[in-house]
Amino acid sequence: MSDARWPGRDVISIREFSRRDIETVLREAQRIRPNPDLLRGRVMASLFFEPSTRTQLSFASACERLGAGVIGFSDVQSTSQAKGETLADTIRMAERYADVIVIRHRWEGSARLAADVAGVPVINAGDGANQHPTQTLLDLFTIRQYLGRIDGLRIGLVGDLRFGRTVHSLATALTRFEDVSLRLISPPNLRMPESVLRELEGRVDYQEQEALELEGLDVVYVTRIQKERFPDIEEYEKVKGAYVITPPIVREQLREDAVILHPLPRVDEIHPDVDGLPQAKYFEQAGNGVPVRMALLKLVLLGEDGR
Ligand code: NCD
Repeated sequence: MSDARWPGRDVISIREFSRRDIETVLREAQRIRPNPDLLRGRVMASLFFEPSTRTQLSFASACERLGAGVIGFSDVQSTSQAKGETLADTIRMAERYADVIVIRHRWEGSARLAADVAGVPVINAGDGANQHPTQTLLDLFTIRQYLGRIDGLRIGLVGDLRFGRTVHSLATALTRFEDVSLRLISPPNLRMPESVLRELEGRVDYQEQEALELEGLDVVYVTRIQKERFPDIEEYEKVKGAYVITPPIVREQLREDAVILHPLPRVDEIHPDVDGLPQAKYFEQAGNGVPVRMALLKLVLLGEDGR
């Protein structure tokens, strides 16, 4: 069934996604194939005001594979913002140059502001510590790829649950599924924000703890301590290196068919020797950024029935 809301839709927060919306994206990502005619003549503006490797490259790759052009920047110093231009004015320009805008910015709410200003669809590629909805869609795609389902899973979120936008979006998305249980593992000062916990209430069974206990989990989602978001660097120094997943921990605590994910980049929270273990799926996860972002671009530009 076609969904009239897709063409022109903004992707700002995963809160705006019903289960049906999530299923639509995952299904589209499953079947979409490179096709240089699909988005031929379209242009994506890629506005990265914060550093990015995977998100930026996989959006660009998704465009190339569907025949769309890419304009944009990844270095704020090279833009007129360095001369004092406002974000709203930059967006007013981008909407005249492009059919879809992808934005990453350190301000929470920046993508919403861009969507309010722009007449073309805006996709949030990360706004400060707030949301990262496209990462969540590829996380869910990867979980289903390896475990065949999302309902009923026991999922551990490990690390910086306070500033990590990927875990905020993922936790919210999991409320759309049945019988999920969450183990929230973090240092006491990096706990999941109350606002997200309130969303979990009554929908996802969760427990918070400091100890790195992974037994019984189907998915372990590890995150980097978000150094750049700490108001006080001394606070960061106290928690850096709080968790390091090593091969003995994986072998002793996890089943072979459990899955370890990480949005990347990692610093030291997963030892490189874990990479060769059967549970390590974070590089495959990063690869899934391409089909999932191809699906999103197709949906917001052409809708479900677009060919
Ligand atoms: C994440 C981000 O930017 O929030 N990276 C990503 O998009 N894959 C996680 C991080 O930076 O730690």
